[in-house]
Amino acid sequence: MKDQLNALLGDAQATIAQAQSTAALEQTRIAFLGKKGKLTAILKRMGSLSPEERPIMGALANETRSQLDALLEARGRTLKAEETARRLADETIDVTMPGRTKSLGHKHPFSIVLEELEEIFLGMGFSVATGPEVEWDYYNFEALNLPQGHPARDTQDTFYITERMLLRTQTSPVQMRVMERQQPPIRIIAPGRVYRSDAVDATHSPLFHQIEGLVVDQGITMGDLKGTLEHFAKRLYGEETRTRLRPHHFPFTEPSCEVDLSCFRCGGKGCPMCKGEGWIEVLGAGMVHPKVLRTGGIDPEKYSGFAFGVGLERLTMFRFQVDDMRLFYVNDMRFLRQF
Ligand code: PHE
Repeated sequence: MKDQLNALLGDAQATIAQAQSTAALEQTRIAFLGKKGKLTAILKRMGSLSPEERPIMGALANETRSQLDALLEARGRTLKAEETARRLADETIDVTMPGRTKSLGHKHPFSIVLEELEEIFLGMGFSVATGPEVEWDYYNFEALNLPQGHPARDTQDTFYITERMLLRTQTSPVQMRVMERQQPPIRIIAPGRVYRSDAVDATHSPLFHQIEGLVVDQGITMGDLKGTLEHFAKRLYGEETRTRLRPHHFPFTEPSCEVDLSCFRCGGKGCPMCKGEGWIEVLGAGMVHPKVLRTGGIDPEKYSGFAFGVGLERLTMFRFQVDDMRLFYVNDMRFLRQF
């Protein structure tokens, strides 16, 4: 029995030394010290010993058990330390590694030009006004001196919600909305989407953008209109830009004009961009019609004003020399990334 205990100790020493994890070591403990373990098996045979031998063997067995305990504990400590060290090594964070950058989007060319424009007009004391895209016929046409059946309505056919409600064809209805709630001095710009039932091509879209301008005060003249637009054109396209007013007709301004700017590419000599003209048409404008002022609750005997409407698409196309408007709407990143 003594030999058996010695053999067991030797066997246990070897197995314990080979255990590579705390889990494996636990299995070893059970194999030797568990209820069905090898030591227990030997102890069960104590009964067959003589009364003299029994205490000696008992002491020896206890000795063996405590040696096993000590061995298990020592190996356990080593394994645990190794496991902790390994986990710490695995979980190391490399603080010098570059972070994952989230790329931000950037501004659409329309937003770039619109923000420049707003900046220029805010600098001249204008503020920004807005109006609804779904508009009453009254504000879009009627109040702007375009009564039912007026032939000029045909040039601005649109999408009707009801007989009296439509998608606005111009930002000019904001003029009336501002006049209704504010007495002069008025100095606003009103950017926004407008709609017309046009087919899509390189220079037309059923949805586009305008920026309206309105100034009403005492003693406002056509000279103020020209000076304001000239300042705007030079700021947006450069000091050498020249402005030309051409007589035109709009029902809500009198007199009315169209405004051309000297070509941004050739400077006025004539090139493919300006179709050889040297000038590019960018705006409609004029002095606010006395009838429109009166409809807006403003006394035309006391006040006068000017208004203009400019297409954001055209401004942006010339600004970045883009010859097809459709490119702005299709969201092709190869195009948009260039701005
Ligand atoms: N609303 C006109 C258009 O869309 C432009 C305009 C605005 C003309 C203001 C005169 C005054 O054609």
